[in-house]
Amino acid sequence: MRALTVRPGEKGALRVEEVPDPEPGPGELLVDGLAVGVCGTDREIADALYGWAPPGRDRLVLGHESLGRVRTAPPDSGFAPGDLVAGVVRRPDPVPCGACAHGHFDMCRNGRYTERGIKEIDGYAAERWTVEADYAVRIDPALGRAGVLMEPTTVVAKAWDQIERVGRRSWFDPRTVLVTGAGPIGLLAALLGAQRGLEVHVLDRVSDGPKPRLAADLGAAYHAGDVAEVARRVRPDIVVECTGAARLVFEAMAGTGPYGIVCLTGVSSPGRTLDADIGRVNRDIVLQNDVVIGSVNANLDHYRAAADALAAADRPWLERLITRRVPLERALDAFDPRPDDVKVAITLDGGA
Ligand code: BGC
Repeated sequence: MRALTVRPGEKGALRVEEVPDPEPGPGELLVDGLAVGVCGTDREIADALYGWAPPGRDRLVLGHESLGRVRTAPPDSGFAPGDLVAGVVRRPDPVPCGACAHGHFDMCRNGRYTERGIKEIDGYAAERWTVEADYAVRIDPALGRAGVLMEPTTVVAKAWDQIERVGRRSWFDPRTVLVTGAGPIGLLAALLGAQRGLEVHVLDRVSDGPKPRLAADLGAAYHAGDVAEVARRVRPDIVVECTGAARLVFEAMAGTGPYGIVCLTGVSSPGRTLDADIGRVNRDIVLQNDVVIGSVNANLDHYRAAADALAAADRPWLERLITRRVPLERALDAFDPRPDDVKVAITLDGGA
């Protein structure tokens, strides 16, 4: 069968190649791959900035935003042939640390977790893959191919879970959220904000292309202006930062209303320095009881929350997030970003 593989640490080593067919072990599903989404992490791996091959190998099958259809399932697994599923990304570390031992592998403390398609385990960008039934998540058949948005939705479901837990440390009645970045993570964060009945503001660099309309169709206000000016006007109770751009991160921390919560989800490139008044930000954070949280990955609870959020969303809107689909044989095209891209997906079965 064919898979999209990469040699972590080597630039330009991405290729579609023949690899051995996977054999399901005890308790595992065999799945026909339908699609994988491509995100910034995949591009970083392709650019040799991130990623680890499985021990003893030099190539890794890429892909952590999965969608597949079950081909075979163990009788008592709760899955049946034909079910649409996504595979969970992370596996607990082998020690395990206290967090992993409690199912909070998204909060792993010793860094020895593994991740499909990212860190030491093959990913899902293959015509067939296997997954432990305990790490497979059912996707509502009504979602169809929009089910490939499951994994990025888990990332924002975790971010919202963190925001709400932190908010509950005192009286909490948020009204407004500012989402910085209108890529897939930003727009899905905005979707979950709208589902919570909040006044949603989305800020991005571009003022044309599909993003303004996608935000507007959630009932969100779209801003292409200066983040500091927008934050001053909106005084958001919550900021979900989805770009990792240093200036936006700083202005997000500086721009909340009192008791503001900033959740950082974007991974920045190291080495970008900023001339900034940290004293002013510190003063505001202290005097207003503000909180800044980082959030990565997602545990099984977040997969369940994401499934609910996607089931409640408007399916045509979700489909519009996937602005480009590329067949596996042309998978490398998916790594050349185009101006109007929101989510790019690689199809694995020749489907649309
Ligand atoms: C994935 C996460 C993963 C993180 C770090 C993100 O792109 O969505 O699941 O934990 O990269 O490897």
